[in-house]
Amino acid sequence: MGDLAVRARGIRKSYGEGQSRTTVLHGVDLDVELGQCMYLAGPSGSGKSTFLSILGCILSPDSGRLALLGQDTSSWNERQKANFRRRNVGFIFQRFQLFRGLRAWENVKIKLDLLGMPPEEGRSRAIGILEALGLGPQVERHVTELSIGQLQRVAVARALAGDPDLILADEPTASLDAESGSKAIRLLHQLAEAGKAVLIVTHDERILRQAGCIVRLEDGHIKSTESKSMSTELTPT
Ligand SMILES: Nc1ncnc2c1ncn2[C@@H]1O[C@H](COP(=O)(O)OP(=O)(O)OP(=O)(O)O)[C@@H](O)[C@H]1O
Ligand SMILES: [Mg+2]
Repeated sequence: MGDLAVRARGIRKSYGEGQSRTTVLHGVDLDVELGQCMYLAGPSGSGKSTFLSILGCILSPDSGRLALLGQDTSSWNERQKANFRRRNVGFIFQRFQLFRGLRAWENVKIKLDLLGMPPEEGRSRAIGILEALGLGPQVERHVTELSIGQLQRVAVARALAGDPDLILADEPTASLDAESGSKAIRLLHQLAEAGKAVLIVTHDERILRQAGCIVRLEDGHIKSTESKSMSTELTPT
């Protein structure tokens, strides 16, 4: 068994106050190993993005224990969480969260600036990752001039730029066609093969059909976990 990148136990989370308070996660347990690519599926509103945000130290759980890369997060303050996130987590947001005023490559380079990479090195690394995702012709464009699928790939590139050990991807192929989607998924699988922990939220049955390990969330509970041997190829539908 590989080292654990995520060890979550009894994670609970509610939103709202008083009468309108609703519990979204009812005590979720999950382990993700380094070198593993795991999928998180489940109906809309089942708590997938909430859970991913907790694993990425973006949201705090109301209760439960969370260890990331062997470190217990429960006593961390906001600054410690932000530091951990910057160094170790690549988060692909469901709504991308890119800087509108910047070019594609600049959005990726920001992540590298935060890690102290020299500007020229950051620029060429940012461009290299965008090219690997098929965005070579778009690197100089402002993100306001990109299609949704292109934005999604810029978001993937930004998440991977800092070489994080834990990659959390919220619907990373939702806006992509079959070919771009399988490129992005192949890249995420390669990262797992290289020893990273990758957790992908998806509704995409095309991808789930060939996924190695699928955890299904329903109404804030883990409903099932399936494991089968993993394939890195996707057959087009
Ligand atoms: N900031 C918030 N305040 C209040 N309720 C929220 C907030 N964020 C999410 N919720 C609610 O929590 C529930 C779970 O939301 P979440 O975004 O985690 O679901 P999801 O499984 O990612 O859904 P989808 O597949 O549609 O992205 C939903 O009912 C949602 O309306
Ligand atoms: Mg979501």
